[in-house]
Amino acid sequence: MTTHTICSVTDLIGHTPLFSLQHPLIPANKKLLLKLEQFNPNFSVKDRTALGLIQTAMNSGKLHPGGTVIESTSGNLGKSLAMLSASMGFRLIVVVDPKVSHNSLNWFKSYGAEVEVVSTPDVNGGYQKARIDRVKALLEKYPGAYWTNQYDNPDNPNYHEMITSQEFINIPVDMMLGSVSTGGHFGGIVKGVKKVHPKTLSMACDVAGSAIFGEPFHPYLLNGLGLSWKAQNTDLAIFDFLNNVSDQDAISLCRLLARDIGLLLGGSSGVVIFSALVALRLPEINSVLAITPDSGINYLEQFYDDDWLVEKGVIPLSKEQLEIRLSCNADKFYEEMIIHDEI
Ligand SMILES: Cc1ncc(COP(=O)(O)O)c(C=O)c1O
Repeated sequence: MTTHTICSVTDLIGHTPLFSLQHPLIPANKKLLLKLEQFNPNFSVKDRTALGLIQTAMNSGKLHPGGTVIESTSGNLGKSLAMLSASMGFRLIVVVDPKVSHNSLNWFKSYGAEVEVVSTPDVNGGYQKARIDRVKALLEKYPGAYWTNQYDNPDNPNYHEMITSQEFINIPVDMMLGSVSTGGHFGGIVKGVKKVHPKTLSMACDVAGSAIFGEPFHPYLLNGLGLSWKAQNTDLAIFDFLNNVSDQDAISLCRLLARDIGLLLGGSSGVVIFSALVALRLPEINSVLAITPDSGINYLEQFYDDDWLVEKGVIPLSKEQLEIRLSCNADKFYEEMIIHDEI
């Protein structure tokens, strides 16, 4: 047997495992496959997005070795850009706000990234605009620096359409499911797969409270997915179905799967797998593929911590309660599908 040797962390990105989930919540004779993005080297799907944004900028001459990359992020994209900047020799400046976790700050700094903390909120009381203003000020200060701009930069969905989707086109399933924040990752994959398999259904999943699907925003507990607005990179017309899942349903499912299967998943994975279990309760859907974006390692001090749950007032549901929630959701979804078909 030969051993394949690699020389760069970039070679560890992608080709994540496909996991056939076996669990009593899956209806008999139905199939649920998970694409486990936590097996990327920095533990999330954002390794792919970061690589796509950096490679495309280099190919087009907007970024050169030794150059400076700037991004506003306190989450997984920042961690992935920090890893790539260390590996590829860029200077990275990450713009964050005071809500950034201590863990994320140490993560960025461990890779040698510089961190700019915005301390004054913008006129809306949030930090989103204040962070973007700081990015713009840094771009003026460092001429030639490159802003990856994951929310609006079309290189994000385009990379996933051209490259990431190739890992999905040979997996025959009735429906694919993924969660959305910028919309770049799942939107790109669906576009790429539909070119080859136009009949494969897609369901974009989000946390209840997020405004991406056009509903009024209210605060939610999960991280990584959702937004209080909709990014330019999110094209909802690409998807066949949209589904929102509550914090409680997603968290309960993640905690259950950790104990029953030994898979420690992030909260957005709970959203996608809950949606997949709803979809599998519809008669037409026999096999689904759910993309799980990151690892529970990011949330050990959040919803995997019993005290945190008490503090936030979340009561985890049992397997039996989840079964009831899934059936109710499936009934509601089925009615909506019929109404949709009749219109
Ligand atoms: C943890 C995490 N990372 C990445 C993503 C992918 O998001 P995007 O839509 O920004 O590509 C999601 C989406 O839900 C997520 O939850």
